[in-house]
Formats: sequence, structure tokens, C-alpha cells
Amino acid sequence: MSTNLESIYLTLEEAIQALPYPDQPGLLYDPVKYTLADPGKRIRSKLTLLGAVLTGGDPHKALPAAIAIELLHNFTLIHDDIMDNADTRRGKMTVYRKWGVPTAILSGDILFGMSYQQLNVYAEKGWLTGTEFVALLSTFQQAVTAVCEGQAMDIEFEGNDVVPLPTYIEMISKKTAALLSAALELGGITSKASLEMRSHLHAMGTAAGIAFQIQDDLMDVVADPSSFGKKVGGDIREGKKTWLMIRALESADEPDATMLKQICTSKSADDIQINQVIRLYENLGILQDAQKEIERYYSEAMNHLQFFNNASHYDYTRTFFDALLNRSS
Ligand code: IPE
Ligand code: IPE
Ligand code: MG
Ligand code: MG
Ligand code: MG
Repeated sequence: MSTNLESIYLTLEEAIQALPYPDQPGLLYDPVKYTLADPGKRIRSKLTLLGAVLTGGDPHKALPAAIAIELLHNFTLIHDDIMDNADTRRGKMTVYRKWGVPTAILSGDILFGMSYQQLNVYAEKGWLTGTEFVALLSTFQQAVTAVCEGQAMDIEFEGNDVVPLPTYIEMISKKTAALLSAALELGGITSKASLEMRSHLHAMGTAAGIAFQIQDDLMDVVADPSSFGKKVGGDIREGKKTWLMIRALESADEPDATMLKQICTSKSADDIQINQVIRLYENLGILQDAQKEIERYYSEAMNHLQFFNNASHYDYTRTFFDALLNRSS
């Protein structure tokens, strides 16, 4: 099959922009419109379409699942920005900064509801059997549970001086990778893929998702603020136990480790302190180490992609992941 995915991406975007929801109450739906208007990278929804074509399916039938995962993702971002005291997202003021916390909670909730509603199409149109539909719902639901657990761990770790790296990997597998693996697997489910195919899609998403979050941690420090769309240094100010901070706490000498712990617990680092931490990361070689770790997890993802090397869009998917590895936002 030689489906033109670029044109389906356009259909996806049009469908997201045309989602039926009312104008009123404005305090509920204005932030929804504001959030969905800025596409971001749409990575998760594109992965759902890729999961479908890699397993021989029709990407049009993956569209509702792709929209569902994108809505779920956007919901998590609105709530994440409250949790992380973040001012900026996609180059704009975050929802809770613009409208306040109660409105951000509610508009996140409605996006969550809208995401589930998308999945009804599979039962309504008879595109999936009952068993397949349950697999779709339960894959989606497992991702929701994982994200909540991962976000809880992320917040809990702010208060811990020591977080072992394997525990951090478990946390990001849940808060971030779970959505990427579910995105790919949902695509597979919509095309009635075998369990073996689904497990490779899932593992590919997990490895790529881990790489993606370590890269996000790295970009929080090194990204160009104009393209990143989020405030650089936000993780340091919030005392987040990122891959970089954990490695720095492990390898810094006593005075530097004490400085890091103080900065983390203060949750109010100024630009001078943030730069001090970044210089320490540089001196300890942590930025290069993070880059190597990102590439290691991406290549693990590519090993799972290899399973689909005779499939339609195999090369296309490789290119997609290469672009992700070199992203600037
Ligand atoms: C941001 O995800 C949240 C993380 C898991 C790091 P994205 O970087 O995919 O956000 P958008 O949707 O492109 O803005
Ligand atoms: C993203 O973690 C996880 C979720 C949104 C579920 P971050 O807190 O690092 O994401 P950004 O950097 O704010 O996008
Ligand atoms: Mg967060
Ligand atoms: Mg955040
Ligand atoms: Mg981040």
C-alpha cells in the first residue's frame, strides 16, 4: 500500500480543528480551543497512524484513535503545567497562567472526556469486534493509569535527594513512554495486528519514549528558547530529578552536591544559579552522556522497528524517528 501519510496528517489536523464542542461556557471551551489551535509536533497521533500502516492497516481507520491519543496528551500537558508551575507552552502562556488553576483543571478534564469519546467510533461503525474494542479501550486505559502514576512519582521525587537512575527510568516509562507505546499499539489494534506485532510496537514506543523524555530533560537546559516554546531551566528551578540532575548528584564532589541539593529544595533558583548548575553539568560531561543515552534508547526502538522491515512505511518511520532525534522543539 502506498498511502500518502502527509495528506493524512492534514486530514488529522483538520479533524482536530473541526472537533465538535460548544462555545459556552467560554471558561471551559476557550482554553480547549487555545490549546488545540497550536499543533505542537502531534507525535503521538502520528505514531498511531504509523502503527496502523506498519501492520498493514488503513490509516484512515486509525484516525479516531490518533485524535483520542492527541487529546489525551493535550489534557496531560494542561495539568502538567499546573504541577510544574510552568509559564510557557508552545511559545504561549500556559492555560493555568492565562485563566487560573480551576479553569485549567476543568478544561483538562473536558479534553480527557473528549478523548474517550473518539474511541466510540470503533464500536459504532463496527470497525472492530467486541474483543478488539476491549483491547483498544484497555490499552488506552493502561496508558492513562501509567501517566498518572508516573506524574505522581515525578512530584514525589522532587522531595528526594537520591533517586536511583533505574527508578527514574521507571518514572519516565510511565509519565511519557506509556503514551508513545500506547499510540503505536492503538494503531496496530485498529488494523487488527497480531499480538507479536503489537508487542514490537509497544516496545518500540517504550524505548523511543524513554529517549524522548531524556531528550526533553536535556533540551530543558540546552534548547534554543525561541524554538523550544518552553522556559529553559524550568526543571532546575522546580527541583526536578531529571536524568541530568540525578547524574550530577551522583558524580559531583561534596560541595557541588550540596549546592545542587540546596538549589533543588529551594524551588526558587534564579538565572545565576540555573547557569551555575548548567556549567556543572558541562564540567561533569553530563550533557554528552545524556546525548549518548538518548541515542542508545533510540537504537533500541529501531531494533523493534526492524521487525517491520518489509512493511509499508518502514523507511518512512525510520526517517520520522531520525527527525525526532534531531528535533528543536
Ligand atoms: C511534551 O510533549 C511532554 C513530554 C512528554 C516531554 P511534546 O514535546 O510532544 O509536546 P507537543 O505536543 O509537541 O507540544
Ligand atoms: C512530561 O513531563 C510528562 C507529561 C506531560 C505527562 P515534563 O513535565 O518534562 O513535560 P514538559 O517539559 O513540561 O513538556
Ligand atoms: Mg512534569
Ligand atoms: Mg512539565
Ligand atoms: Mg520537560
